[in-house]
Amino acid sequence: MPKEVILIAAVTVDGFIARHNREVTTWSKDLCLFKEQTLGHPVVMGSNTYDTLAAELEGRRMIVIHRNDNPQAILNNIYEDRCFIIGGGKTYARFSPYLTHLYITPHPFVFGKGIPLFDGETPALNLVFQKMVTVDEMDGIFQYQYKVMKS
Ligand SMILES: NC(=O)c1ccc[n+]([C@@H]2O[C@H](COP(=O)([O-])OP(=O)(O)OC[C@H]3O[C@@H](n4cnc5c(N)ncnc54)[C@H](OP(=O)(O)O)[C@@H]3O)[C@@H](O)[C@H]2O)c1
Repeated sequence: MPKEVILIAAVTVDGFIARHNREVTTWSKDLCLFKEQTLGHPVVMGSNTYDTLAAELEGRRMIVIHRNDNPQAILNNIYEDRCFIIGGGKTYARFSPYLTHLYITPHPFVFGKGIPLFDGETPALNLVFQKMVTVDEMDGIFQYQYKVMKS
């Protein structure tokens, strides 16, 4: 199990990550930061998210999960110190018990409906703010990094 299991997501102000489960995420402004932060680390994603990708994520081992996969077993097979859970909503929820950090970038949209950040059962997580990274200062877009406190 990696020491750091980091959820990374772009969210709307009303807490959605996509309008529907096949949406290609074209609205997020943090793709450069996403690449910089995930490069060299394994990235875990659900099959829907994999299907929306235009290309393989170069420089990262891509682990695509399906409903019969066990999240704990997937993590136990990752020997690196850090991995990223990169979506989508079902996958964020399924890995939520194992998260050590959340990197969240709110964007100035309200979708009203769609795929929520956690699409499924999720435990309450006690978060402590660690750092803010500027994505686009003019548009007021910042990434908030939180550590999950063990209860
Ligand atoms: N804004 C962001 O940062 C961001 C990041 C990533 C993704 N997204 C968006 O999120 C959307 C996809 O999210 P998503 O939640 O639909 O999909 P997802 O998490 O990418 O993939 C669905 C996962 O849930 C599994 N699953 C399906 N039905 C299930 C069930 N009944 N019980 C347990 N597991 C089940 C699937 O397995 P099977 O393969 O067996 O069906 C698959 O592993 C896309 O639009 C994508 O663009 C946004």
